[in-house]
Amino acid sequence: MSNEAVNVSPEQLAADKQFLKDREAAGTERYIKRHSLQARWTHGIAVTACLLLCLSGCFVFIPPLAQMVGSDVVFVFRMVHRVCGVIFVVVPLFSAIASPKGVGHIVKNLFAKWTSDDKKWMMLFFPYLFMAKWIHMPDQDEVKSGQRFADGMLWLFGLLMAVTGVFLLIGELGLNLGTTAHGVLLFLHDFGFLMIAVFGLAHIFLGAGIFQPYRGTYKLMFGNGMVSESDAIYHWGHWARKEITEGKNVVEKPVTK
Ligand code: HEM
Ligand code: HEM
Repeated sequence: MSNEAVNVSPEQLAADKQFLKDREAAGTERYIKRHSLQARWTHGIAVTACLLLCLSGCFVFIPPLAQMVGSDVVFVFRMVHRVCGVIFVVVPLFSAIASPKGVGHIVKNLFAKWTSDDKKWMMLFFPYLFMAKWIHMPDQDEVKSGQRFADGMLWLFGLLMAVTGVFLLIGELGLNLGTTAHGVLLFLHDFGFLMIAVFGLAHIFLGAGIFQPYRGTYKLMFGNGMVSESDAIYHWGHWARKEITEGKNVVEKPVTK
């Protein structure tokens, strides 16, 4: 398949077809390990806390909602918010301390220099959302260019929520921050909420596989952390080929029909 932006030569196409035929004949499928158990648990706990924080935050932030449920329920939501807030900060922090290499890996991927394939991928992304069947996207490294930007925003605003939230909590627990500082913190906390909502919804649209080409992607974080060779080549071609050549994160399983 080819289009104006990415050309696939007939030789490459034939090689790809032959490759798929050989794989089918082998009766096994290869998988590449993409996320460790620790990364998956950290993501799962932080995501659950984040969703509960958004929900409970709404009952503090939106007066008609608070009036609808009454002050006792609002009190419960406030407490839920504090407990989830602490979990949202402490769990990733411990995970980062336990695996500094993992943090380095994430930072390296987020700040990787954009190649010409990365720029092409980004330019094609919006048409791809509507015409995925007909658009051949350029190969990508471990984290796609657009994904680097979107994940980066989640990290940035997650950090903002954590820092402002901790200061708000310290303020609630008795330390007098002054009205101006409290107002600024609340404003930044609310702004971060809006940004987390925007980027979080886009992330969930792709990560949960609501958009067809990403169907099943949720398993990378909520399943065994493995991606099939064919999906890996489709989504992150450069990374997949490198992993397959190195082989240390590759496992082979019989095809289940
Ligand atoms: C994704 C993460 C988070 C979201 C979406 C979120 C959302 C919100 C929202 C919408 C409010 C209401 C602000 C207002 O009244 O103007 C709020 C208040 C607050 N948040 Fe968060 N928050 C998050 C993380 C945190 C964290 C990590 C902490 C603490 C460790 C925290 C502590 C607080 C506190 C103490 C308040 C004031 C609550 C009150 O008035 O009783 N939040 N949050
Ligand atoms: C139900 C909701 C969610 C689903 C299904 C989901 C799914 C995923 C998946 C499948 C990945 C791996 C992508 C890949 O391997 O390229 C991922 C990564 C990530 N997600 Fe989520 N996610 C959800 C919610 C969230 C939320 C709410 C946040 C942030 C507040 C978040 C932050 C992240 C980050 C920062 C990464 C990158 C992790 C890394 O680089 O190791 N996710 N998510």
